[in-house]
Amino acid sequence: MADATIPVPLDVYRFDPARDSAPRYQRYTLDLAPHTPVLSALLKIRAELDPTLSVRFSCRSAICGSCAMQVYSKSRLACETPVGPEVELHGRIVVEPMRNQPVVRDLVVDQAPFWKQYEGIEPHLKLDPAKPMPAGRTNPMSPEQVEAFHDTPRCIACAACFSACPAVEADPSFPGPMALAKLYRFVVDPRDTARQDRLVRIQTEGLWLCLRCHLCTDSCPKNVRPSERIRDLKEMAVAAQGATELGSRHAVGFKENLRSTGILNEMKLVRQTYGVVGTLGQVGQGIHVWRKKPEITKRPHPIEGAEEIEQIYKALDAEGDGR
Ligand code: SF4
Ligand code: SF4
Ligand code: FES
Repeated sequence: MADATIPVPLDVYRFDPARDSAPRYQRYTLDLAPHTPVLSALLKIRAELDPTLSVRFSCRSAICGSCAMQVYSKSRLACETPVGPEVELHGRIVVEPMRNQPVVRDLVVDQAPFWKQYEGIEPHLKLDPAKPMPAGRTNPMSPEQVEAFHDTPRCIACAACFSACPAVEADPSFPGPMALAKLYRFVVDPRDTARQDRLVRIQTEGLWLCLRCHLCTDSCPKNVRPSERIRDLKEMAVAAQGATELGSRHAVGFKENLRSTGILNEMKLVRQTYGVVGTLGQVGQGIHVWRKKPEITKRPHPIEGAEEIEQIYKALDAEGDGR
């Protein structure tokens, strides 16, 4: 017996830069089984209702990464997103192209910005020329060494995280979550000889622009958890080079700042971030904030339970996890 169907209204983003002056949304309504993937719905529209609709796909099995798009404002793989729950939640399905990449046509984007950032982290092993790969056999790694990759090898380069990332939107020079997760993968690879160079370089090439919003991790269909690997990279970069950049000084200062009182001393944090001389450049901003919030200049009193916070810090330090 055929599965019961439900009416599925789809509002699909349409835009052909060669023909249209502005994007529009086109409504198509199909009768579909709830488990039908959004990609199958789009292909049905193209086959039966509108052959002009452009959509990119290949494997239809959540493997190739080519069908990533926005489904009701979330970056998803269209081939593994069923229509039923979306219709139940929102009453319709809004389908849009990925963000942070220019639209070629309809749901197809130009992924050049994504791949340019990937290329920028030099995603290949840099081996010691004195220790080339053993000819004709693999270069074995221990289970612990493989474990250190976490789930980064699962990445299918779908760019869903890149599309979801507000740091990429704010500053296109930010490498983006996927490139940084890949960088992490090479930094922890014991066969790679460029660990120190990679960590020093990334400190000035965007690492600290990450806002720690975790939207990349939320949108990743393969559970790569890029934001967690970016956190690890930050920690490794500070260990490798010290807190030399504005971002790293802010992060380290923030951590130390909270430690004794459990409450942020904002004046102190400015000094910790900018240094004494740099703080002078912040005086105008400081006066502006002080007018709105005069208590900012007072040293904060320790909050109730501050000694427990100190114990937590000590325990994290002992575990080597005091980030
Ligand atoms: S956690 Fe960082 S990399 Fe991930 S989406 Fe937010 S800003 Fe982008
Ligand atoms: S990290 Fe996840 S979301 Fe980002 S490209 Fe890889 S698989 Fe896609
Ligand atoms: S078509 Fe390959 S991941 Fe969706």
